[in-house]
Amino acid sequence: MQTSPACKRGVLLIQKTMTNTSTILKATNIQKSFGKGEAKNHVLRGLNLQVDRGEFLAIMGPSGCGKSTLLHILGLMDQPDEGEVTLDGETFAHANARPQRLRFLREKIGFVFQRFNLISVLSGRDNVRMSLRVRGVRDDEYVEKLLQRMGVAEVAHRKPGELSIGEQQRIAVARALAHKPEIVLADEPTGNLDTDNGDALLELFRQINRQDAQTMVMITHSTEAARQADRVLHMRDGLIETE
Ligand SMILES: Nc1ncnc2c1ncn2[C@@H]1O[C@H](COP(=O)(O)OP(=O)(O)OP(=O)(O)O)[C@@H](O)[C@H]1O
Ligand SMILES: [Mg+2]
Repeated sequence: MQTSPACKRGVLLIQKTMTNTSTILKATNIQKSFGKGEAKNHVLRGLNLQVDRGEFLAIMGPSGCGKSTLLHILGLMDQPDEGEVTLDGETFAHANARPQRLRFLREKIGFVFQRFNLISVLSGRDNVRMSLRVRGVRDDEYVEKLLQRMGVAEVAHRKPGELSIGEQQRIAVARALAHKPEIVLADEPTGNLDTDNGDALLELFRQINRQDAQTMVMITHSTEAARQADRVLHMRDGLIETE
């Protein structure tokens, strides 16, 4: 049977629309170096990556291969030397306007830093509340629910310096989730947790991912944690190696 050009165009349009709506994050030809001359360290070497809306993706790779560097670029915290990041239909190239980048950061992204980056003069609880307040929202009930889910409600009155590393990590996760971002980027979120707390966190990620269709991108060294993901990517030499 012959297909008319109009019909073909229609099919192409539907395919294009489907591709667009199902991809929340796309990185194209990402390159990033640190240092100059002899000391230049070419960390990301033309990396490509695509994440579907509602997907739970894990990224693994040896220490120093550029996982955190990549996550910072995907989360619009850092800019690539070359290449671009498309997040929820908006493309960010090297010279993109700062206000738009900040707006996306604030509204759409929840970030768990490898080193937590909690504000040291605020209590754990206020660190989480603050993340909502800067977005003009006050929802102490939800903050409390998250702190309880993370098992840190009892200690959240303390400042980060008075919390264990694992407790700080769980506060940092609660902070990243508080504004219900469309995409959560988590840099080794179970890295400092024992098995029980690590399992509880992964369970929470899974639940949020399923219930609220939030997209999760998680860096991990743990094959156990990666097993929770829909898809696992491996990084080596500044590129995605295998799926
Ligand atoms: N701001 C920076 N200035 C200079 N070099 C940097 C900077 N940030 C990262 N690097 C270097 O880039 C490389 C990749 O670092 P990155 O933190 O992305 O690795 P990683 O894969 O996250 O490692 P890990 O598993 O240990 O967390 C490393 O060699 C690191 O020393
Ligand atoms: Mg890292």
